[in-house]
Amino acid sequence: MTGAPLPRAAATSGAHGDARDVVALVPPPLALYIHIPWCVRKCPYCDFNSHGQQGALPVDDYVAALLADLEQDLPLAWGRSVHSVFFGGGTPSLFPPEAIGAILDGAAARLRFSPGAEITLECNPGTAEHGRFEGYRAAGVNRLSFGVQSFDDGCLQRLGRIHDSREAEQAVQLARSAGFDNFNLDLMYALPGQTQAMALHDVARAIALEPAHLSHYQLTMEPNTVFAAKPPAGLPDEDAAWDMQDACIAAMAEAGYAQYEVSAYARAGRQCAHNLNYWRFGDYLGIGAGAHGKLSLGSEQAILRRWKLKHPRDYLAAAATPARIGGDEFLAPARRPFDYMLNALRLVEGFRLRDFEARTGLPRAAIAPQLALAFERGWLAASPGSDAAGEAERIVPTELGRRFTNDVVSLFLE
Ligand SMILES: C[S@@+](CC[C@H](N)C(=O)[O-])C[C@H]1O[C@@H](n2cnc3c(N)ncnc32)[C@H](O)[C@@H]1O
Ligand code: SF4
Repeated sequence: MTGAPLPRAAATSGAHGDARDVVALVPPPLALYIHIPWCVRKCPYCDFNSHGQQGALPVDDYVAALLADLEQDLPLAWGRSVHSVFFGGGTPSLFPPEAIGAILDGAAARLRFSPGAEITLECNPGTAEHGRFEGYRAAGVNRLSFGVQSFDDGCLQRLGRIHDSREAEQAVQLARSAGFDNFNLDLMYALPGQTQAMALHDVARAIALEPAHLSHYQLTMEPNTVFAAKPPAGLPDEDAAWDMQDACIAAMAEAGYAQYEVSAYARAGRQCAHNLNYWRFGDYLGIGAGAHGKLSLGSEQAILRRWKLKHPRDYLAAAATPARIGGDEFLAPARRPFDYMLNALRLVEGFRLRDFEARTGLPRAAIAPQLALAFERGWLAASPGSDAAGEAERIVPTELGRRFTNDVVSLFLE
């Protein structure tokens, strides 16, 4: 559907679409995602839309492309405020502060930012330079996310990382002395050759740097990666990975980092607002190569998903035109419960039935049979307390449900 006018909103008839079955879709908070698709070198486990740098990056052209892209998406967000911005990649820290500042200034000239909006930039510790972090701060960035992965130099080498543990620690110290106290560290576990003691050691080294937030991802073999084609030796099995995760959760909790999502842990009040918005089925504009957006169109009671051309070369060539759009798709009512649960059930807090209604435009009755089955299987539970209508206030995944998230979510397939 490249460059075509928007498809008609899915007709509200069928499985979940009878007029009596429709409740008002209320536009949720809006975020802005900005994709920077280059890295110094491609890591062998990574399937993100990222490309190893070859020569100088077309920074100025890309900044202009991002703003042209945003300009054309503006009608999807008329009158709404942006609550968070996330520069993701790839490696956004390959862009100098002036470029990040130009993007933020251009975005703020086109969109209203809510006061205190969280503005995150992803950094590879191998790209940290003196002075950079001061520049990012002056540009408006107020949160950093470092891809540390591990503090074991053997593990880092096996992961093909461009930095060692000392450089990771130095990058964090540089950021802190530039005034950043709100930062996240990404760690991966179940690494080739990693024992539980090593995973715990990584967590301890991360905690010693006093981050506000930790992301702790199990290394997965993603299709179309070097690791998928030739898995590294010494990968821990599923049971060992679970034990590692359990031990690390306990260590993080002990140090004050509470788990609030499958892979996310934070000190009190330091959850990532941008990611929480995704998991609560909020809205987002996505600009940049391969970026995805999701917008609730209140007037049409429709949910639009839009994505941009994936390859940086194609995106750069088309960014000023409708051809930058890789696809547009209205989310059919019958598909909404699954998409909602895919996000909401990642959260320890689960979801409120009235939020399900407001964000999908469907009545709670549309998911009553699936909820009953999930309760029966011990995957979901109603949290204590009820709202004015006597309905359970929250539906939360149980420990069993968290272990079998895919099965639970599959119940909600159309
Ligand atoms: C876009 S990267 C972060 C910033 C920067 N590109 C870097 O790697 O330093 C996002 C994070 O996803 C995680 N990740 C990437 N591929 C993964 C995989 N196959 N399994 C688990 N986590 C993965 C890594 O922790 C990585 O830091
Ligand atoms: S993990 Fe980060 S640095 Fe490595 S290829 Fe993926 S996006 Fe790039």
